[in-house]
Amino acid sequence: MEDMGFLRMLMQLTWVGVLLSEILAATEVAAQLPRPNCSDRCGDVQIPFPFGITEGCYLNKDFGLKCNHSSGVLTTGNLIVTNISIREGQMDILMYVAFQCFNQSGELQDSNRPSLTVPTYTISNTQNVFVAVGCDTYAHLTGFQNSLPFTMGCISFCQNITNVVGQSCSGIGCCQVEIPPGLKNFTLKAYSYYSHKAIWSFNPCSYAFVVKKDRFSFSSGYLSSLKDNKTLPMVLDWAIGNETCDKSNSVCGRNSECYEPDSGYGYRCRCEAGYDGNPYLPHGCQDIKQCEDHKLNQCKIPKTCVDREGNYTCSCPKWYRGDGRKDGTGCELKLILVSVLAIGLGIGFIVVPVCSSLWLYLIVRQRKLIKRRERFFQQNGGLYLSQILSRQENSAGTTTIFSAEELKKASKNYDEKLIIGEGGFGTVYKGFLSDNRIVAIKKSKVVDKNQIEQFINEVVILSQINHRNVVKLLGCCLETEVPLLVYEFISNGTLFQYIHDESTGCTVSWETRLRIATEAAEALSYLHSTASPPIIHRDVKPSNILLDASYTAKVSDFGASRLVPLDKAQVATIVQGTLGYLDPEYLQTSRFTEKSDVYSFGVVLVELLTGKTALQSFEMPEEETSLTMYFLSSLKEDKLFDVLEKHLVNEGNTVQLGKVANLAKRCLSVRGEDRPTMNEVATELEDLRKTVKHSCVNTDSMS
Ligand SMILES: *[C@@H]1O[C@H](CO)[C@@H](O)[C@H](O)[C@H]1NC(C)=O
Ligand SMILES: *[C@@H]1O[C@H](CO)[C@@H](O)[C@H](O)[C@H]1NC(C)=O
Ligand SMILES: *[C@@H]1O[C@H](CO)[C@@H](O)[C@H](O)[C@H]1NC(C)=O
Ligand SMILES: *[C@@H]1O[C@H](CO)[C@@H](O)[C@H](O)[C@H]1NC(C)=O
Ligand SMILES: *[C@@H]1O[C@H](CO)[C@@H](O)[C@H](O)[C@H]1NC(C)=O
Ligand SMILES: *[C@@H]1O[C@H](CO)[C@@H](O)[C@H](O)[C@H]1NC(C)=O
Ligand SMILES: *[C@@H]1O[C@H](CO)[C@@H](O)[C@H](O)[C@H]1NC(C)=O
Ligand SMILES: *[C@@H]1O[C@H](CO)[C@@H](O)[C@H](O)[C@H]1NC(C)=O
Ligand SMILES: *[C@@H]1O[C@H](CO)[C@@H](O)[C@H](O)[C@H]1NC(C)=O
Repeated sequence: MEDMGFLRMLMQLTWVGVLLSEILAATEVAAQLPRPNCSDRCGDVQIPFPFGITEGCYLNKDFGLKCNHSSGVLTTGNLIVTNISIREGQMDILMYVAFQCFNQSGELQDSNRPSLTVPTYTISNTQNVFVAVGCDTYAHLTGFQNSLPFTMGCISFCQNITNVVGQSCSGIGCCQVEIPPGLKNFTLKAYSYYSHKAIWSFNPCSYAFVVKKDRFSFSSGYLSSLKDNKTLPMVLDWAIGNETCDKSNSVCGRNSECYEPDSGYGYRCRCEAGYDGNPYLPHGCQDIKQCEDHKLNQCKIPKTCVDREGNYTCSCPKWYRGDGRKDGTGCELKLILVSVLAIGLGIGFIVVPVCSSLWLYLIVRQRKLIKRRERFFQQNGGLYLSQILSRQENSAGTTTIFSAEELKKASKNYDEKLIIGEGGFGTVYKGFLSDNRIVAIKKSKVVDKNQIEQFINEVVILSQINHRNVVKLLGCCLETEVPLLVYEFISNGTLFQYIHDESTGCTVSWETRLRIATEAAEALSYLHSTASPPIIHRDVKPSNILLDASYTAKVSDFGASRLVPLDKAQVATIVQGTLGYLDPEYLQTSRFTEKSDVYSFGVVLVELLTGKTALQSFEMPEEETSLTMYFLSSLKEDKLFDVLEKHLVNEGNTVQLGKVANLAKRCLSVRGEDRPTMNEVATELEDLRKTVKHSCVNTDSMS
């Protein structure tokens, strides 16, 4: 684009205007002026000085003309003058025709030998031609060339009028000869060899004349009729005196110059360039005001024209140089500017390719990155997700798609120091968003198709859930190789850490434990019954129950969850979940039901009651393979209070503990049918909480 504009500008600058042909013709009038107080015309003919018709009006007697005012005919001697031109130094006259005519018997009847003897005049060799007309004719032009006698002529014959062909003047009935320069003081003569005897009927005369070239074309009719044309137009050159320009007494006026015409006689005057007028008058040549008429100047920009004596100047706009003339150098950008532009262009030619290739490289890289991200997006089930999300009408609508960039920044490029957990399906980082929100970013560990489904499941499920005891999903990012989930940050870790930690675990009150159990139960109840379609968590365990700042339970990690289709109560799957919490029925049937979650929750209750982890079997008697077996056998043997956490028993709410233990036992029923629903569990726990007697030994009064 820029280059094109520059080229166009250069083309405009180098364009040189062509001369306007009409420029000089406009000033003819001033050249034709006579002397002051002299009549300037006779009839239609202008009489410029040095010519004149009265004494004192012409330069000398050679230029003295006569005017018949009544007929308006201007004459020199006996010749009629029809035009006088100062600029050309010429004069149009009507010159007589020379002839010789015979009667039928061959007797000479009439003849004429006209001559022009005024030394001022020379026959114009450029404008005229010498012609003889007749079928028994020869003709002479005798005169002086450079003061030496000179004769020229031509012969014309024809036997029969039918021989004469058209308008050709080439020796048959007509002949013509070019005129040499400098002929003056001439006489025209026409002759006949045989007195036109044989051809008298159609050609009784011989004619000879000098005629203006463009005013004569031969026709056979002239053989008999030319007798009627007494005169024919012809052009004379005129000049002043017989001297050359060397003589200092030339009559040329101010601002004029003397020149010698080609004819070699005398001299003429002409106005110097830039002046106009009649150069023979003393003050005839006047400065031309070229600027007043744009046709007279060659300024590219007419406004810049300034008149000078004998000339004018044009100028160029700022930053341009030159004379501003169409016939001159015109206007060009100043060299320095051109250099600057050239350097600029040069730099451009270097910089642009470098920059553009860099730019191209960056674009290609960006494209690759975008492609990569798109690929990941698809690989990570982005399409599947967006399909599912678009199908869901009652989704919370708050799920955001985060960019990889954003999350990378938030997690300080996945700093190991920010790892807050290693979930079943990935690592969880603490992250700080630009709007100061603290989030948990869950980064899946490996990508295989199975996990993507789980991942997508989690996104889909969580996007539907809006419960205060369920960890809120803020959004996800699918552009990275491993999918990322962004959750609200839950500050106090997991229930597992809380109750099994050496230092804090034994101080967690029963009241708090019961509350957390209730909240978790409510969350699961909601998932099972309120959410539509129902959701089975599949991996209920203390490490999936998070605790916020006020130790409110938040159920998380829906990685293993499945939406339970409304028409089916059970879903056949491969074995999933965490050993120790797994529903034994599920292990047999591979069918996960809501009751499987109930079983797992039962294990959680046992852990809350006993303060032991589900897999911490080394503390148990050898015969017991798991905490549940240990707990159930203890309950059977009525040794419940032996297995309960010591400080809970001391609080003196044994009835309540017993009820919860009983509830846990029911939850842990081998047959799913025998277990209560999560809703029943939640209601029961809630009821128990209402009846709780506030103990004075409440070491962690969080509620
Ligand atoms: C022209 O004529 C006028 C009066 O008719 C006279 O005043 C003037 O001087 C004359 N000019 C010349 C150059 O003869
Ligand atoms: C002027 O012309 C008229 C008409 O052509 C003619 O009658 C007259 O004699 C001429 N006068 C002179 C002085 O030639
Ligand atoms: C007189 O001559 C000039 C220049 O040669 C020409 O422009 C003009 O038309 C001529 N006038 C007549 C009446 O022939
Ligand atoms: C030709 O002219 C001569 C002398 O002028 C005359 O005698 C003769 O009769 C003329 N012939 C004819 C045919 O007119
Ligand atoms: C001219 O030619 C025509 C026919 O071509 C002829 O009739 C006539 O007699 C000829 N005239 C002369 C003078 O030879
Ligand atoms: C012009 O020629 C004639 C004879 O043809 C001669 O008498 C006369 O002196 C010549 N005049 C000039 C100026 O040459
Ligand atoms: C001769 O005169 C006639 C009539 O006057 C005219 O038509 C013809 O053009 C003239 N011939 C020349 C060559 O001027
Ligand atoms: C020039 O003309 C003058 C008279 O006008 C005459 O005396 C002189 O001899 C001429 N000179 C030439 C070279 O013809
Ligand atoms: C006017 O001036 C220009 C440049 O200064 C020059 O080329 C040109 O010949 C001059 N023209 C005249 C008429 O003096």
